[in-house]
Amino acid sequence: MNFDIDRYVASVAALDDSDIDYDDFRRHPLPDDALRCLRYMHDVEHHTVCYLRDLLVTRAHDDPVITTFLTMWAYEEFWHGEAIGKVLRAHGEIAGRPRIDAARERVGSGRLGTLGTMFASMLTEHIVTVSLTWGAVNEWTTQAAYVRLAQRTGHPTLAELVRRIAKQEGRHIDFYASEATRRLENRRAQRMTRWALTRFWTPVGSGVMPHEETVHLITYLFGDDEGAEMARRIDRRIDRLTGLSGMALIDGARRDYALTRSADDGRRDDAITGSVDDLQSAA
Ligand SMILES: [Fe+2]
Ligand SMILES: [Fe+2]
Repeated sequence: MNFDIDRYVASVAALDDSDIDYDDFRRHPLPDDALRCLRYMHDVEHHTVCYLRDLLVTRAHDDPVITTFLTMWAYEEFWHGEAIGKVLRAHGEIAGRPRIDAARERVGSGRLGTLGTMFASMLTEHIVTVSLTWGAVNEWTTQAAYVRLAQRTGHPTLAELVRRIAKQEGRHIDFYASEATRRLENRRAQRMTRWALTRFWTPVGSGVMPHEETVHLITYLFGDDEGAEMARRIDRRIDRLTGLSGMALIDGARRDYALTRSADDGRRDDAITGSVDDLQSAA
């Protein structure tokens, strides 16, 4: 699989939503669960430029093919955030800079993480392989999340919008997966990437969004049988990368987060039962 960077550059564009009828969401609003996912997606798409900062402090910075891609990638992701913002605004919600401001404040500067990545890059050149493989995993899961959101809501206007976003995510997948495939021919890179993913990978946005929002998104989009099958399909794609088979990274995360939800619900049920018992004994 070879990625043609010049062809990609020629095709890069802000997401075309000129014919999307955002007023349709005023007439046919989305359910709260779906809106909650869209808030997450909005914030994470707009956080791409911060992920870009962390990639550029590695030796990825030295490779003009990678820096060309990253420039275009950040541009396309920005417009994904903007399009989702329009859906939120059609529901009377705040979007764009005030939401981004709040997210940045919540996350903080992240300078320690950036310094850690920079330091790791000084120790080993394979940090680039780790980062690009990580990128492939994140783009696979992001695209799957958009597909699942369209399936779960059955809202035709949202389905068309996220279909267009998911198509651009597909080109991001092509880049990251082709770079990962090529770079994972090196055995040390394989070992380091496997170690880093197994030890440190968490779902996209989980470092930026509150834990309960990640739990909600994963439970809503991947908590049922179709979501589980989608997660396993991504794991099979990761399995095909040399040295990375058998990690069950995505299905494992899906189970972890869905179980968190079940445990939380259980605790909430216990609390409700306890409150009812307290009320009854007080009566
Ligand atoms: Fe995106
Ligand atoms: Fe993407």
